Amino acid sequence: EKIPLSLKVNGVKHKLSVEPRATLLDLLREQLHLTGTKKGCDYGQCGACTVHVDGQRVNACLSFAVMHDGQEITTIEGLADGDKLHPMQEAFVKHDGFQCGYCTPGQIMSAVACVREGHAGSEGEIREYMSGNICRCGAYANIVAAIQDVKQ
Ligand code: FES
Repeated sequence: EKIPLSLKVNGVKHKLSVEPRATLLDLLREQLHLTGTKKGCDYGQCGACTVHVDGQRVNACLSFAVMHDGQEITTIEGLADGDKLHPMQEAFVKHDGFQCGYCTPGQIMSAVACVREGHAGSEGEIREYMSGNICRCGAYANIVAAIQDVKQ
């Protein structure tokens, strides 16, 4: 039986009904068609599904959608301000913080949280905070450079 759920995603209110076992990731991708948030591993190991819930970063694959009633979700689609990219998006472009791009939405959502939460003080601190976001292409040095650029 489906469960009613209200949440705000990227500033838009939604009233939905969801399967009790649906993850936040599947809700975003399949019900709301916000496919910027990626499914890499689907068990909390890769960070491709990173979103913000009430400003805190969350692995959307590890979280049941029904746990988020009344909360505010931000995905990669909600970062830009119209045509103007978020400064972190600009920095990833400038520093080539990706290769294939699959992990990039999750990397950027984590990177925004990293700076906002004050964990971008040194390269070591950034690497520690970002360690849950795996990049198979190995773009780590450029990702760190992008974060350092935004931090300044
Ligand atoms: Fe959620 Fe990999 S898809 S951590």
